Amino acid sequence: FFFALCALKEKKMYKMHHNITKIFITFYQFQNKSKPIANISRSVTSHHSLCSFRPISPEEALEEEFILKSIAWPKYPSIKHFSSLPNTSHPACGSFTILPRRGGGSWRIGDQLEVLIQIQDCHCCPKNYGGDVLLASLHNRDLEAGVAGKVVDHLNGTYSAVFTLLWNGSAKIEVTLVHSSEAVEVLSRQTSEHPDRIYFKSLFRSGSKNLFANCNVCLRSSQALQCNYTDVRTGEPWFCYKPENLSCDARISHSMGGFKRKLRPNEVNLFVSGVNMKVPIQTSGPSDVFVSGRWRPSGFYYKGVWRSLSGTAVREFDAKQMTQCLKGKQVHMYGDSTIRQWFEYLNQGLPGEQFNLHTSKQSGPFLALDYTNNIIVTFRCHGPPIRFGNVPIGELRYIANELDSVIGGSNTIIVLGIWSHFSTFPMEVYIRRLMSIRRAVVQLLARAPETLVIVRTANLKALTLYETLTNSDWYSMQRDKALRAVFKGTGVHLVDAWEMTLAHNLPHNLHPDRPIIKNMINVLLSYVCPAKGR
Ligand SMILES: *[C@@H]1O[C@H](CO)[C@@H](O)[C@H](O)[C@H]1NC(C)=O
Ligand SMILES: *[C@@H]1O[C@H](CO)[C@@H](O)[C@H](O)[C@H]1NC(C)=O
Ligand SMILES: *[C@@H]1O[C@H](CO)[C@@H](O)[C@H](O)[C@H]1NC(C)=O
Ligand SMILES: *[C@@H]1O[C@H](CO)[C@@H](O)[C@H](O)[C@H]1NC(C)=O
Ligand SMILES: *[C@@H]1O[C@H](CO)[C@@H](O)[C@H](O)[C@H]1NC(C)=O
Ligand SMILES: *[C@@H]1O[C@H](CO)[C@@H](O)[C@H](O)[C@H]1NC(C)=O
Ligand SMILES: *[C@@H]1O[C@H](CO)[C@@H](O)[C@H](O)[C@H]1NC(C)=O
Repeated sequence: FFFALCALKEKKMYKMHHNITKIFITFYQFQNKSKPIANISRSVTSHHSLCSFRPISPEEALEEEFILKSIAWPKYPSIKHFSSLPNTSHPACGSFTILPRRGGGSWRIGDQLEVLIQIQDCHCCPKNYGGDVLLASLHNRDLEAGVAGKVVDHLNGTYSAVFTLLWNGSAKIEVTLVHSSEAVEVLSRQTSEHPDRIYFKSLFRSGSKNLFANCNVCLRSSQALQCNYTDVRTGEPWFCYKPENLSCDARISHSMGGFKRKLRPNEVNLFVSGVNMKVPIQTSGPSDVFVSGRWRPSGFYYKGVWRSLSGTAVREFDAKQMTQCLKGKQVHMYGDSTIRQWFEYLNQGLPGEQFNLHTSKQSGPFLALDYTNNIIVTFRCHGPPIRFGNVPIGELRYIANELDSVIGGSNTIIVLGIWSHFSTFPMEVYIRRLMSIRRAVVQLLARAPETLVIVRTANLKALTLYETLTNSDWYSMQRDKALRAVFKGTGVHLVDAWEMTLAHNLPHNLHPDRPIIKNMINVLLSYVCPAKGR
């Protein structure tokens, strides 16, 4: 029995696997494959016939193709489908080596430090293809210092990690295998075959009749007719099965429906925390492989405080300085729960009150007002797909449409954060959503150039099996690259949540802990109120 091999090496695996099967609730719910009676003609690209995509212009299509190419993940030639665990990456066998300093001598601030990583399989044989998901970072816990490294895949089982040395004193290298390349294969196939594994539902009501129907951007054809809720202004597609005897207009709310686990039986073994998922790789002896090219992180932590290496210098803001900075401003935040965290942080720090709009704690919208200082802070969640519960239809708004109604100007700050609810869908769903938001941002900046637009990137998170299939760091990593590509050159400012979570000593968390949020807010406010004399 193949899995036994790896399991014997790592006794932990039995336990972990057991935990996972206990935690897990399986929602196997196959759609009725019978012939549809209602034909839905959709604008789709051939490989995801299940999903609808927002129509885009020929220029956008070219750009999308370019982005997809630039983030293409290495495919390995020898194995089509994961078949045997012994041949998969096994971090307990892998190792990394620090390459000697170029020109000899001791390490200095500003040096590039390079590390060679060798990934091995369960037989502890070197792998000869790439595609593993690795993270690299440098830390000094005493100094509360940390910085992200960049990983380069040599496509032959070896990887380089490149770091910039930014503080005096020791720097501990951390290399983590997030997923084996075989696990990535499975995650990738999850999306191509089951882009509807996270599903949604809407409540329809007419008189005393209440019915739920399944909804998605990727809705399988079935006997049921479909209601088309495609947004007329943005063209963002959304569909629900039509509930019998109820009109499509009777839809009153939106919720996450659930998750259909579609793993093949042995695939679960590729996602075992502590064995082959988010596991540190140990160091070993020296090596002679050499990587060129400088890596410039966007910032680093020192004494627990994020310092920027690109763009605006980061200031620290206490509650009083925060109020001073935001005096007379409107801050409009749009996005997912990671942006809601920022609203909550500002709301706690500012002297005003959160106005009770009697809205859902999860989806908002929220409004915080400070009459004395004339500050408004708002939060609104992005449009579907969104995994929140019970969002009234009237609050399902697309960010692009919301931005179209913003006047803008020097007192307006727009904060956007949209990533984690898109991970299970084809990349095009996300890219096209971002492009529609970008169109609105570009128009806003054209009519009110002094408006400040700030985009929060994706971040790392803790991975269980469920979290991995629905929101793995690999999905986020790929979307994060697309996000940076789409907004490049538009004049928006980024808060690099990816590096700010990778570089920090605190564990990865979908909703980063408060010290990280505080640093993110420092970056945000430093764009609003830059240090004087710069
Ligand atoms: C699927 O549809 C067929 C044809 O209408 C029906 O006979 C069958 O019971 C349905 N199966 C399920 C699982 O709903
Ligand atoms: C559905 O589409 C198919 C193929 O395009 C076509 O042959 C068929 O007549 C259509 N059915 C209906 C009910 O429109
Ligand atoms: C849904 O509606 C949109 C906008 O009204 C339209 O462009 C699209 O073709 C419709 N899609 C389907 C499948 O009917
Ligand atoms: C698995 O690896 C072993 C050696 O490590 C090799 O002999 C075998 O052919 C590999 N199997 C597959 C399916 O690649
Ligand atoms: C892997 O590729 C790198 C970069 O091309 C090369 O320097 C190295 O020698 C290769 N290693 C092996 C084991 O083939
Ligand atoms: C590092 O130490 C050197 C020598 O003590 C000092 O000159 C330099 O300013 C220090 N750099 C930082 C960033 O602390
Ligand atoms: C829909 O209406 C028809 C005719 O009135 C009735 O026979 C059927 O049971 C109704 N279906 C549902 C789900 O209410």
